[in-house]
Amino acid sequence: MAVAVVYVFTILLSIILTWFTLCVRKRQVGEPPLENGWIPFLGVALEFRQNPLEFLRSKQRKYGDSFTCKIAGNFFTFIMDPFSYSAVFRQGKNLDFQTFAIETSRKVFGHADFNDPIYNRNYKEIHALFRQTLQGPALHNLTSSMMENLQTVMLRNKTSEWTTEGLQSFSFRIMFEAGFRTLFGREEKPSEMENIEPKKFQMTTAMDNFNVFDRAFPEIAAGFPIYLLKKAYTAREALTERLQHKYLKKNHGLSALIERRMNLFDQMPYLDELGKARTHTAMLWASQANTLPATFWSLYYMLRSPEALKVAQTEVERVIQESNQKLDKMKKTVVLSKEQLDSMSALGSIIDEALRLSSASIMIRVATENFVLNMDSGKNVSIRKGDRIAMFPQMIHMDPEIYENPTEFKFNRFLDENGQKKTFFYKNQRKLKNFLLPFGSGVSECPGRFFAVNEIKQFLALVVFYYDMELKDPATPVDIDCSRAGLGILPPKHDVLFRYKLKDCISE
Ligand code: HEM
Ligand SMILES: *[C@@H]1O[C@H](CO)[C@@H](O)[C@H](O)[C@H]1NC(C)=O
Ligand SMILES: *[C@@H]1O[C@H](CO)[C@@H](O)[C@H](O)[C@H]1NC(C)=O
Ligand SMILES: *[C@@H]1O[C@H](CO)[C@@H](O)[C@H](O)[C@H]1NC(C)=O
Repeated sequence: MAVAVVYVFTILLSIILTWFTLCVRKRQVGEPPLENGWIPFLGVALEFRQNPLEFLRSKQRKYGDSFTCKIAGNFFTFIMDPFSYSAVFRQGKNLDFQTFAIETSRKVFGHADFNDPIYNRNYKEIHALFRQTLQGPALHNLTSSMMENLQTVMLRNKTSEWTTEGLQSFSFRIMFEAGFRTLFGREEKPSEMENIEPKKFQMTTAMDNFNVFDRAFPEIAAGFPIYLLKKAYTAREALTERLQHKYLKKNHGLSALIERRMNLFDQMPYLDELGKARTHTAMLWASQANTLPATFWSLYYMLRSPEALKVAQTEVERVIQESNQKLDKMKKTVVLSKEQLDSMSALGSIIDEALRLSSASIMIRVATENFVLNMDSGKNVSIRKGDRIAMFPQMIHMDPEIYENPTEFKFNRFLDENGQKKTFFYKNQRKLKNFLLPFGSGVSECPGRFFAVNEIKQFLALVVFYYDMELKDPATPVDIDCSRAGLGILPPKHDVLFRYKLKDCISE
């Protein structure tokens, strides 16, 4: 017995020693300080995941503006100095985003490998569609479609009673359905014209499936096989089932984005029908996963601040009066053009401030060669092939030197003295180019960012216009759930109750 223990002990000890002598990476000349962590493979993953902001702040105090950490088998070099972000964005030559992004997305959505040459040429075309169909002139169509869909969903129930609901539940269900219809269209049924609810059950199911799948997203993206997460897998497959071309083709009001993606996928002989549908599930996720919590926070902070709510009401009234629309129950819907939305700078500031407080995305690039990164300070940092460069903009968003009292919501933080969008922010008396990055930047910048801000603005304008609203308990703040840090907009830890009521002149 004792002999066996000695054997086991010896074997373990030699494994550990081998690991330390052979497998532990050593810092080389010119490389940033290195933190291997003490757990084989995982490195500092646990510490990092627990609280990325605090982890990075403590390493920054120890090492300065760049350092390398081992996280789950990969080496990440963090760039902490916001003035050096541009140096990374400019390094297109030695840094890859797409290969890495498609790999991650494949793990989660199970779609085809678009890095494979048999798809690659078409994939470039598909990628180019984002800009063509989500920005510029195309945004007008999306905007008016979203405006209509939001009101269809909001005005289905014209009761004049006060209704109590979770604020998250309220904003998620309205935005999910309206956003879904705006991209993927809707089944045309005559009853829909009557503002009755023919599809409630299906849309509720889709929304439930989306939530179940989205809750498991962090584990799946981190590499946990989705096949082992039964509920998430079933939910994803159910969403995908409904997004097959045979159903989408029957829908009315498909967005140009989805219509043109469908055309391109139909020209790809190696892609089967479910394979096409999986890419649509990925698109559905991209269009909703961040937008929903961002909408929640925008509405939540607006309602919590009487000043913000007042300013928003004044702005909405001004814009609606300017366009000669009255609060009138005979009128089917309110129309706000894209130009009018653009002119609503107070709502814009409320949204930007909500994004600043809730965004925790991480920007990642993979080094395709050994190369030297020239930091803004003049320092040069050697990066090894295969390593990742990472930027965590929450460090900027929560920097008290850039944003005074950074954890506080200030509705007018992004307004200048003329009430216009403020674009000057400073650190060390230097003007910052990158001060608000909820949408990423460089090659991976979110192509839906203009549409996203527009749709949240539309939502805020319409709820202010249609409803009287109050939070049940405005004094108690709701905490942010940090467990999804790295993946985008963080959700609240729990829902908060509020009550709302259609204004008397609208209700029936
Ligand atoms: C508040 C809402 C949103 C936020 C905060 C947001 C944020 C982001 C971020 C940070 C990325 C880059 C991910 C990375 O670097 O790995 C991204 C990518 C993307 N977003 Fe958004 N997004 C939002 C809404 C939308 C909407 C409404 C759409 C479309 C309708 C959309 C479509 C996309 C697409 C297609 C990509 C991938 C782009 C690529 O592969 O190059 N997003 N988003
Ligand atoms: C906008 O919609 C109109 C009418 O549905 C269509 O003719 C036009 O091509 C669309 N524009 C864009 C840029 O998608
Ligand atoms: C409309 O809302 C009221 C109040 O919440 C609710 O009692 C009623 O059942 C709803 N009506 C419909 C048709 O959903
Ligand atoms: C960093 O590299 C650049 C050329 O890439 C060089 O001009 C500069 O002198 C180097 N800086 C330092 C501090 O070594």
